[in-house]
Amino acid sequence: MNPGRRWFLGGLLSLVGGCATVRELPWPRAMPPEPPEADLGLRYHEWSKPGHARYEGPPPDWGTQPPRYKTYPDAPRVALPLPAEDSTMRFMAAIQARRSQRSYRDVPLSLAELGQLLFAAQGITYPPGELRAAPSAGALYPIELYALVHRVADLQAGAYHYAVQEHALEMVRAGDLSAEISAAALGQGFLGEANVCFILSAIFQRTRWKYRERTYRYVLLEAGHIAQNLCLAATALGLGACPVGAFFDDELNALLELDGHDEAALYIVAAGKV
Ligand SMILES: Cc1cc2nc3c(=O)[nH]c(=O)nc-3n(C[C@H](O)[C@H](O)[C@H](O)COP(=O)(O)O)c2cc1C
Repeated sequence: MNPGRRWFLGGLLSLVGGCATVRELPWPRAMPPEPPEADLGLRYHEWSKPGHARYEGPPPDWGTQPPRYKTYPDAPRVALPLPAEDSTMRFMAAIQARRSQRSYRDVPLSLAELGQLLFAAQGITYPPGELRAAPSAGALYPIELYALVHRVADLQAGAYHYAVQEHALEMVRAGDLSAEISAAALGQGFLGEANVCFILSAIFQRTRWKYRERTYRYVLLEAGHIAQNLCLAATALGLGACPVGAFFDDELNALLELDGHDEAALYIVAAGKV
């Protein structure tokens, strides 16, 4: 039923049967009308409140739960050093010291540092439940993590996928991608100068089959959690990082051969020696 009609019927019933009748109606009395904002984000925000979704036709088929992990079975694999459990920087000092860093020294990152950053972002911290370093709605973990490696010791330049279960890297593309990532990020040159650029993508169906309309909210929130873990871990390791949200989506997706629909890039975090 369209909202205008709902309000009209609600008003009519309250006139006929008194307010008590209206309170007993099966839909929320305070149901707002379809928001008039041109801003699609605000419309989505309103629409995705529980019980507010309106469909022209039948509700969508939200599908079934897809595999929990993505793998590239034929990709060359690189094992990462086990993460250290401590850093020399105290937690509140890292909070205080974190700043977005956009200039990096021409010194390679070590594989151990890269492994530490990846683990802080998405590592399994509670193996019995396969729970990870950053929280996830329903522990469904829709975010995939990629590392565009420009300058890491003992690691060929290229794009890698983080294999969470094995704490390993799977090589997706070989080669120097620094010019491509800068171009994809609206020409922001520091992305090509960073030692590594992390790309966070979402496989929406991992969350959608359960949380339906709330999915898009949740995946963005989760990307934020993971990006903050990366930034704070970089600071604690004496490195620098900068989150980047300004990019051409299609170019960034193409860089990793993501279809941009079932899986789409959401966020970049540049990191390196400062
Ligand atoms: C969602 C988001 C997107 C951002 N995108 C960019 C970006 O495209 N380029 C950039 O240089 N910084 C970007 N930043 C970093 C902000 O400019 C930075 O966080 C802000 O200036 C505050 O500085 P601080 O991080 O040092 O505290 C982004 C930050 C956030 C949270």
